[in-house]
Amino acid sequence: MGTIIKLQNIVKKFYIGEPNELEILHGISLEVEDGEFVAIVGPSGSGKSTLMNMIGALDRPTSGEYFIDGIDVGKADDEELSDIRNQKVGFVFQTYNLIPKVNALKNIELPMLYAGTDRQTRIKRSEELLELVGMADRAKHLPEELSGGQKQRVAIARAMANDPAIILADEPTGALDSKTGRMVMDIFHKLNKEKHKTIVLITHSEELAEETDRIISLKDGEIVDIRKGSGKSATEKQKEEDEKIINETIKEISDTFDELNASIELEDEKMDSSEEVKVEENKEENVEEKPEENKDDIKEENSGEVSEENKEVQEETNTENNEDDNNTNDNNDDKKEDK
Ligand SMILES: Nc1ncnc2c1ncn2[C@@H]1O[C@H](COP(=O)(O)OP(=O)(O)O)[C@@H](O)[C@H]1O
Ligand SMILES: [Mg+2]
Repeated sequence: MGTIIKLQNIVKKFYIGEPNELEILHGISLEVEDGEFVAIVGPSGSGKSTLMNMIGALDRPTSGEYFIDGIDVGKADDEELSDIRNQKVGFVFQTYNLIPKVNALKNIELPMLYAGTDRQTRIKRSEELLELVGMADRAKHLPEELSGGQKQRVAIARAMANDPAIILADEPTGALDSKTGRMVMDIFHKLNKEKHKTIVLITHSEELAEETDRIISLKDGEIVDIRKGSGKSATEKQKEEDEKIINETIKEISDTFDELNASIELEDEKMDSSEEVKVEENKEENVEEKPEENKDDIKEENSGEVSEENKEVQEETNTENNEDDNNTNDNNDDKKEDK
């Protein structure tokens, strides 16, 4: 663990030196830990996408310092910037930005093609990534043949292509209905928990933001609030709540059983003490009814010993049976020869 993204006093201006010069980000300082899942929230036009583009090295700040995985992005030349974009970060956009003319598998292969990965590895990895996002059965589909949620899952797989340390997602659920958005959000949770990806998510949804580790609020180009989130998917939370209810119910039932058992035991004890007296009385009666000789007879009848005579008879019967079997076989052979 360590700091993977470090922004220091980032300022972004547009139309510099012109009469309509516009300062969008007014000195943003922010650190994101390796493996953290953070949300950036704020009203439209507050500078979220501008900030995200800076983090992903799609744009350069006007002033301020920026380090990604220890690399000073401000000092990087264009080639290094393009390497950062290709290797360190994976982008997911609201409008998916898939290449319309090629299928899902090829869309995922593309960043690997730019990175110079060989064909076999590209295909293998693309297939694995499609599997990861639950889209293995749609590999050959064109983007237009996929629903919004499916397109976004392919886009997430593509963002993962070169195994970047950071996933940057700019309103990835903005164009999706809440159920589909939920599914996409769960994929991000999975990438964060299972693949240890650092995720920066821009979202308008308070609900989704609450599920991340930390929520950063932006307003008019400034950070106005940072607070902790649950870091847990709502699906996971629901599961935990369901389990809690089940466990409580089980406890209630077992408590009821314990109480019931206790009262039954109490009843039994009462019964036992009264029955003991009866049993004692019965014993005395039984002894009088059964004479000693009869008991010995019963023992002999039940003994498992086989007398010598009986053994011989058994052996004979076994031999006869075997001979019968042989005869039948001979007959069969004869029949075969006849044919
Ligand atoms: N390339 C650009 N040129 C000029 N103004 C821009 C540019 N990109 C963004 N802006 C302006 O910066 C402000 C913040 O935009 P943006 O970062 O997209 O906000 P958000 O993503 O929070 O909705 C907006 O007023 C927008 O018009
Ligand atoms: Mg935006």
